Amino acid sequence: MRKKILFDTDPGVDDAAALLFLQKHPDIELVGITTVFGNSDIDRVTRNALYLKERFGVTAPVARGAAAPLVRQPGPAPVMVHGENGLGDVSVPDMEAIATDPRPAWQFIIDMLRQNPGEITIVAVGRMTNLALALAEAPDIVDLVREVVIMGGAFAVSGHNGNVTPVAEANIIGDPHAADIVFSARWPVVAVGLDVTRQVLVTTQDLELLARKGGETGRLLADISEGYMRFYDRFGAGGFYLHDASAAALAIDRSLFGMRAGPVRVVTNGIAAGQTIQRDNSLPYPPNAWDGAPDQEVCVAIDAARVKALVMDTLLG
Ligand code: BDR
Ligand code: CA
Repeated sequence: MRKKILFDTDPGVDDAAALLFLQKHPDIELVGITTVFGNSDIDRVTRNALYLKERFGVTAPVARGAAAPLVRQPGPAPVMVHGENGLGDVSVPDMEAIATDPRPAWQFIIDMLRQNPGEITIVAVGRMTNLALALAEAPDIVDLVREVVIMGGAFAVSGHNGNVTPVAEANIIGDPHAADIVFSARWPVVAVGLDVTRQVLVTTQDLELLARKGGETGRLLADISEGYMRFYDRFGAGGFYLHDASAAALAIDRSLFGMRAGPVRVVTNGIAAGQTIQRDNSLPYPPNAWDGAPDQEVCVAIDAARVKALVMDTLLG
């Protein structure tokens, strides 16, 4: 039986790669797409999701999600990374003729989990606002989900820190209160953070290969990634990081990753807002803010070559 995935996303250049990777993978049944503000505003990311659905024959419905963080003021959209329209400024048609699901994303998530108890893995690769809203409305969903895989966080493993501030990763600082709720809920979370996603590099040669041999999917991904590549070139990274598709890869094959367990809390205010901190349960701390929070898994190792091969082979297949 194929694995059911509900994809919560803010497309987003690397979100688009992750979505099309999941859509093409034979072991995956994409059962829903929920959108959230982030890489662009909620109108644009929802339009982008509808565009990808329509163009690539995705049958899963798209439900529109949160337009702003739970508590903090929304920050500016990262136009220097994902372009003004969120998809590298390639032309995206007006999608008004295609309807979104009538339910808001949080309600769609609740309904899907209740209809498929124990079967759905949520792969969330944007701000975690929709998930936090679903938890607030229906706390029972913690027992209904199979697993929650998130792309988010920076845990200072192997010297990898934040990408928005020295300690904060974009999806977490975009709504730190929501992220803290998601990590603190009694459901199984796996965090695929910058510690591991920064090890999966897509090069210009990879994009050329996708454009040449990856059909319509490869050509679109190569087109939307041009500006994304230029952004990363400025740091001399030698390519761009495959953040969101790495989380999707974990949902398909967790043996490609190494994890450690322990409660995770998120700093919600002050100069360290957005920092994700996992407690080492082997150390004898006095009472602290991690007490009572459930153990969650954080990725500390990755077989980057195999993750990249899984994604590339699927997209090229
Ligand atoms: C995350 O932020 C966004 O720019 C990407 O889509 C990814 O989900 C990386 O920090
Ligand atoms: Ca994303």
